[in-house]
Amino acid sequence: MKALVLSGGKGTRLRPITHTGAKQLVPVANRPILWYVLDNIAKASITEVGIIISPETGEEIKESLGDGSRWGVKITYISQDEPGGLAHCVVVARDFLKDSSFVMYLGDNLIGCGIEPFVDTFNETGSDAVILLKPVDNPSSFGIAEIDADGRILNLEEKPAEPKSNLALVGVYIFSSAIHGAIDSIEPSARGELEITDAIQRLVTGDNPVRSHIVETWWLDTGKKDDLLEANSIVLDDWIKRDIRGDVDEASQVTGRVDIAPGATVTGSTLRGPIVVGEGAVIKDSFIGPFTSVGAGTTVVKSVIEHCVILSGAEISHVNRMEDSLIGRGSKVLKCHHKHEALRLMISDDSIVEI
Ligand code: DAU
Repeated sequence: MKALVLSGGKGTRLRPITHTGAKQLVPVANRPILWYVLDNIAKASITEVGIIISPETGEEIKESLGDGSRWGVKITYISQDEPGGLAHCVVVARDFLKDSSFVMYLGDNLIGCGIEPFVDTFNETGSDAVILLKPVDNPSSFGIAEIDADGRILNLEEKPAEPKSNLALVGVYIFSSAIHGAIDSIEPSARGELEITDAIQRLVTGDNPVRSHIVETWWLDTGKKDDLLEANSIVLDDWIKRDIRGDVDEASQVTGRVDIAPGATVTGSTLRGPIVVGEGAVIKDSFIGPFTSVGAGTTVVKSVIEHCVILSGAEISHVNRMEDSLIGRGSKVLKCHHKHEALRLMISDDSIVEI
């Protein structure tokens, strides 16, 4: 079995953060989302991995993942000139996939479990597709499946205006080579994309065996700011252990599960986990509250921060209170004088906010 990871597209929903970076590389708990995807693929013992990249962000994805040896996998990069849809990625990857079965994994999706049970179901049942489903509150934003009382799939629809269920397609799919014929038979959707949802629907209509699994753990499609903050909180809560490798002075208090990378310094500050602090970050005379990621080389001085994702090389200084914020690489937030008002920000890389 091979894996195909979709890391192309334009990432418009996280703009302006993704103006200067691929959305699949936005860090959650200081690790790019794509690294969690590779963790899961490697854990399922899949070693041949194709990565779809776009001309805009391909180079930084290559830089981040390299040849895959860090995960013990072999990566082949496959360029997609235009974001023609998820099924178009499969067309573009045909030479890589050949007639092998494969896991298709959306590079901006994080799930709280491994994929081995789904691969096992695929292998044991001889299905042409295994799809993962999860109930959501906003079904019009996803591919949606209608299933009968026995869990059989009746119908699939991409982002329906009037959803027939609340069961969303999670961005992890397992296909046999039958998917290629199904894709050949579909037309672009109203939004001009070749939809994988339509291709799976063809398999269903053609009586090809398609199995579904309800995902019991959390699943986050990290396309938007609030999703990203939530993903960050959940990953910190579930996976971060106390590990202090940086320097913490005696005047500081570090409580709970706090991961401080080597080369980071904490002086005169209080940190309450779960928190991650990246390599070379400097935290001085500040309070960092739960569910915060401080990126590598970021400086926080005389500030109070909680439930924030701060990317690398940023500077936060004299901010009385900042919550629920996503701060881009190299951005600066300086001097906040409104003592009782919390700031809620989403600012792009290299911005400066002086308040
Ligand atoms: O996240 C789950 C949802 O993902 C499913 O419920 C939907 O059925 C499915 O269509 C998909 O919807 P999105 O609108 O969220 O897909 P998005 O355009 O965000 O693309 C998902 C990933 O695939 C993202 O990492 C970018 C990449 N991609 C996307 C397109 C359209 C490509 O590499 N090439 C493309 O042409």
